[in-house]
Amino acid sequence: MIPAHYLFDTFHGKRVHLGVTGSIAAYKALDLTRAFLRLNIQVGATLTESARRFVTDLSFGALGADPLFTDMFAAGMNYDHLEPAVADAFVVAPATANTLARMANGLADDLLSCQLLAYPGPVLVAPAMNPRMWSAPATRHNWEVLGQRGVVRIEPDCGSVACGDTGQGRLAPLEEIFIRTLAALSPQDMRGKKVMLTLGPTREYFDRVRFWSNPSTGTMGACLAIAAALRGAEVTAVTGPVDLPLPAMIRRIPVVSAREMFEAARDVFPSQDIGCFTAAVADFRPPACELGKFKKGGAPLALTFEPNPDILATLSGRKKPGQVTVGFAAEAQDLERNAAGKLERKNLDLIVANPVDEAGAGFATPTNRVLVMDRHGRRESWPQLPKTEIAWRIWDWISMNTP
Ligand code: C5P
Repeated sequence: MIPAHYLFDTFHGKRVHLGVTGSIAAYKALDLTRAFLRLNIQVGATLTESARRFVTDLSFGALGADPLFTDMFAAGMNYDHLEPAVADAFVVAPATANTLARMANGLADDLLSCQLLAYPGPVLVAPAMNPRMWSAPATRHNWEVLGQRGVVRIEPDCGSVACGDTGQGRLAPLEEIFIRTLAALSPQDMRGKKVMLTLGPTREYFDRVRFWSNPSTGTMGACLAIAAALRGAEVTAVTGPVDLPLPAMIRRIPVVSAREMFEAARDVFPSQDIGCFTAAVADFRPPACELGKFKKGGAPLALTFEPNPDILATLSGRKKPGQVTVGFAAEAQDLERNAAGKLERKNLDLIVANPVDEAGAGFATPTNRVLVMDRHGRRESWPQLPKTEIAWRIWDWISMNTP
């Protein structure tokens, strides 16, 4: 299953063509087809003869893949070998060792290899094979050649493979193939930018087992991190304790407490172009418990909380010319006035504010309703939207308004 925060709805009408080759992983190309179709991306497919031993073209057709190609000479004289000229990306998944070799050497001895040779757009390849075939010198060489030629290479995973061997050779996780394909379909307007994000809650431990925290799932920050990476940025995410997958193209620094998050962000931020602070940081921390674990007793427990560093205010205060900071504000009342105050007080370029007590906005929902304000006095209130869409729009705003 592709995680919900990977499902960006900005690719309507794009076309992806799948090349499916003869591996036991061929059935996974059906799930990939469904995932693209779910975003209203048109999917076509070409199955090699050996792929059709594992899956049928009927399965792809039944899901809605169109056009579908199998046999070079199926319809007599035609130009199928020059298709799919209009696709926005050509994804070979799974790719066998044989297909990699054909591609690396420019062979054109079946329909898929002809089409790949003739295709002028971005090609992605996700191999699947036995680990010994993967590590064979010939395959290593072909892999290098494809990289030099600009093919987007999605490394296979390590683990056990169908024949019982263990090693590198399993098809990469579908969500990786999916997200790398979306990147190939995305505008690259953030290429060359370095973006750091903080996301998720922080945990402030009372003792070894109990902590003070909040229900943030980190979804908004993850959507922003993925959207920036899709658009070509180099992204580092400082993540509080969240149970949220992020694509491999995002560097992840996991932390637990606000102080750890502060230290990580402080070290990374000076080299960044943009800092985006979505984390729901605990503003206070309880004192450390000497005992390791609080013991029950009749007496009430009284603790004095210490203030935590304000990561955003501190780093934004140290901003160098050209650096941009984006803050978030979850407000129970006076959304606009409080957000405007934070924009000013924390020296931000942009603030994104949402109400905390509204259904479909804020913590642990896939949607949000936000008010966006920037330092130039521009202000927009957006309707309730998926967090993926809000993330995309925030980067549109930043891209349009910063050099
Ligand atoms: O002041 P308030 O907590 O409402 O500000 C929210 C913004 O400040 C968010 O962007 C949040 O990530 C950031 N923040 C922070 N460190 C804190 C508290 C908030 O970075 N200790």
